[in-house]
Amino acid sequence: MSDVAAWIRNAEKITVLSGAGMSAESGVPTFRGDGGLWRQRGALELANAEAFERDPKGVWAWYRWRQDHTRRCVPNAGHLALAALERARPGQVLIATQNVDGLHRRAGSERVIELHGNLFADRCTRCGQVHPCDDGPVTSPVTPEDGARDPELVRCTRCQGLLRPGVVWFGEHLPAGALETATAAAEEADVLLVVGTSGVVMPAAGLARVTREHGGRVVVINTEHTDLVRAGDVELLGGAAVVLPELVAGAGIALA
Ligand code: OAD
Repeated sequence: MSDVAAWIRNAEKITVLSGAGMSAESGVPTFRGDGGLWRQRGALELANAEAFERDPKGVWAWYRWRQDHTRRCVPNAGHLALAALERARPGQVLIATQNVDGLHRRAGSERVIELHGNLFADRCTRCGQVHPCDDGPVTSPVTPEDGARDPELVRCTRCQGLLRPGVVWFGEHLPAGALETATAAAEEADVLLVVGTSGVVMPAAGLARVTREHGGRVVVINTEHTDLVRAGDVELLGGAAVVLPELVAGAGIALA
């Protein structure tokens, strides 16, 4: 841990690749493992464009539920530690996240690449116009299922096309430029922090390789061992909300 804190202290460029485990302590479910989203009945079949064409209401019901649930979650100490790191080192920190929950930005991080889109950026299926919906925390006494049982199908105010969730589905390309920016950041990183990802979906494993090939250090932070870890990497076992504040504080950066 103290070695890694020293690397962070001395690094010119720090890149973070985050996955669902980053937000687990905020109460956002991960995809795999016990309680993971992909264990929910039928969930895997909902995350693709064919399912949406066949049954837009069914797909929207699941995404409205996820929006409602995510609004009720708040950034955890790990998100806040990364935001403090960026504030202390402007222009030197970039987060490439696989998460669609928006919690890095809500924590205050600004240089965030959302590789898999955003749960709150509904998009027109016809003209591509993005229709942001409120991602703020819910204060009214709604239940997570509100609006999800019989979701309204919303149309684009510009062209009347049907809106779809703003996330990347199976078989779809990542948002334009996202992978290129993340790869460039992995190349120039002195330290790549890989936080809370199983690494089974590209580009997670690929970005770690890019950093190693360019001589950077890879630090894997996860509650469990993952196959992402290679010789020469450092593995820190623990929750993101515990390990990241320790690391950032250890690098001499004030968390608040
Ligand atoms: P996964 O659900 O596959 O993996 C979550 C990882 O987080 C696991 O390795 C856990 O051990 C770890 N973990 C759980 N709690 C943690 C905590 N508190 N602190 C640190 N680590 C923790 O999620 P991703 O790797 O993000 O894509 O999944 C990648 C992609 O697969 C997702 O973006 C999604 C999915 O299909 C799309 O939907 C396009």
